[in-house]
Amino acid sequence: MLNGKNILIGITGGIAAYKICELIRMYKRNGANVRVVCTPNALNFVTKLTLQNLSQNEVGVDEFDIAQFKPEHISYADEADIMLIAPATANTIGKIANGICDNLLTSVACAFSKPIIIAPAMNCGMWNNNFVEENISKLQAKGIYILEPEEGFLACGYEGKGRLCDLNKIYEKTVEILSLQKNLSGKKIVITAGGTIEEIDSVRYISNYSSGKMGIALADTAYEQGADVILITSVDTQKPYGVIKIKSAEDLKNAVENEYDSADCIIMAAAVADYRAKNIADHKLKKDETSDSFTLELVKNPDILQELCKKRDKVLCGQNLSDRKNNKPLIVGFCAESENLIENAKSKIEKKGCDYLIANDISRKDIGFSSDYNEVTILDKTGSAKKLERAAKTKIARQIFREIYG
Ligand code: CTP
Repeated sequence: MLNGKNILIGITGGIAAYKICELIRMYKRNGANVRVVCTPNALNFVTKLTLQNLSQNEVGVDEFDIAQFKPEHISYADEADIMLIAPATANTIGKIANGICDNLLTSVACAFSKPIIIAPAMNCGMWNNNFVEENISKLQAKGIYILEPEEGFLACGYEGKGRLCDLNKIYEKTVEILSLQKNLSGKKIVITAGGTIEEIDSVRYISNYSSGKMGIALADTAYEQGADVILITSVDTQKPYGVIKIKSAEDLKNAVENEYDSADCIIMAAAVADYRAKNIADHKLKKDETSDSFTLELVKNPDILQELCKKRDKVLCGQNLSDRKNNKPLIVGFCAESENLIENAKSKIEKKGCDYLIANDISRKDIGFSSDYNEVTILDKTGSAKKLERAAKTKIARQIFREIYG
């Protein structure tokens, strides 16, 4: 089941480290290539020689202890399809959640752009500690899969939640995530994210509060599932896939149009400004001392989503029936509403003509703009609506792809 897959296991200093020996055998028996990185403390519980023999690969512990120069944290991160950190101590969880890279394992985790599973194991008091809870939430919000510890008798003598979860559960989750990776392979997916910036003069602009987090979560998920991804955004971000930086609605329109012909799917998650300044001054506008008011004339931006849908439908109209089966590209819009969400979304999908519309309520502070969480309703052309309950944006992104691609 795991033929050709590269699994990177990170082991930290907890008593459950010995159980990972059996997990390595399970992965290997099913065809995976396994590499192991350990924190120095992990070697108090299990030997490097054991891990090396079981994985049939050299085990990494110290990023500076290398015979031949190779930036180890990058090479481990590049080679693997998935990273599992088990058992994960409260200490390593805290470091990863806060971007601390003080050993090989935490550096690899920080450089890793593909799926990460973390299976914590610790004393029950530590698991219930507020800092640990916050760190776990941070990791979940970043799309890291957490396999929670189980209740039972703990090695420290306590009874409670803290035991490393069952190895079969870790194995099954690994297979499930790796099988998802193929879902979107061969598809080119173009995603827009973030607000647009409409200049007024050389120092001022009109924009909005969109953080781009939802669009970026969709792009990360599409990449994770094997798609060829192009992210068009005003947000500064570095990704292992193509990113086209834009400012204004006009830049965004040009960028999307350039990708249109080769795209299998276009997702318009960007919060595009509806208007722009009629004239952009190439210098800083001076205050008018003779007046208490200032009038800025705005003109309407094109509705990019609507134009894309019109263009697609026009091409389809000109085709004979057999060609029409290739209904390319699939077009997905977003809909930001602060009142009457479903009612407005229904009229928007009809007006714009897209295949799906993802409606979110931007009046709520616990979801939407700037938040790591969202709660959305997906509408399709037939008028049917499905609500996705509040969850981390990465989880919502995975659910959206499941809805539109099955
Ligand atoms: N959109 C677009 N071009 C615009 C405005 C919006 O392509 N000029 C797209 C957005 O990317 C989104 C969808 O249209 O996918 C809906 O955006 P939204 O802001 O919810 O709606 P608007 O069409 O701008 O209408 P209104 O502001 O009146 O709600």
